[in-house]
Amino acid sequence: MQAIVVYESHWGNTAAIARAIAEGIGPEARALSTAEATGEALSGVDLIVAGAPLLGFSLPTESMLKGIAANAARDPVAPDLSHPAMRVWLDALPKAAGRAAAFETRIWWSPGSAAKAILGRLEAAGYRPVAKAQRFIVQGKYGPLRDGELGRAKAWGAQLAQAMK
Ligand SMILES: Cc1cc2nc3c(=O)[nH]c(=O)nc-3n(C[C@H](O)[C@H](O)[C@H](O)COP(=O)(O)O)c2cc1C
Repeated sequence: MQAIVVYESHWGNTAAIARAIAEGIGPEARALSTAEATGEALSGVDLIVAGAPLLGFSLPTESMLKGIAANAARDPVAPDLSHPAMRVWLDALPKAAGRAAAFETRIWWSPGSAAKAILGRLEAAGYRPVAKAQRFIVQGKYGPLRDGELGRAKAWGAQLAQAMK
């Protein structure tokens, strides 16, 4: 079973969760940014797990990322804006009959869900969900991840691999 864990991540929290999920799935899984998960990287993939941060109560939009770029100097940690938004990656994803799962990183109390939006769009592209949309929690606006979230992500990855059997 070939799997990719695709992420949009500007301060590293979602990328760290993606790597932990890939580790939990097993050696056949790779964590890739939206810039890396294109073309050849998508061929022969049985499971796509896709994740993004919840920003402004939703899956980040292009205009939000422009705003983040404009205000980058004020952020305590410089944002990584080197890869496309998950929305853009989903727009370009070819239709296929694979399996999928989705996750987000977020503050615990916030309304909105990036993961549900991702899963809905993966379903619209023909991918069948193997799990409910999953959330992983950060302690503050820019992180860090709450204690235990990396372990929970790894365990979720193992559950996804089990569900694919
Ligand atoms: C500009 C901005 C807006 C945010 N908006 C929300 C939000 O609406 N809801 C929420 O739960 N978290 C929000 N957060 C927290 C992020 O979702 C959280 O830090 C996430 O883990 C960032 O992911 P990344 O490090 O992979 O970029 C926001 C953070 C920033 C910097």
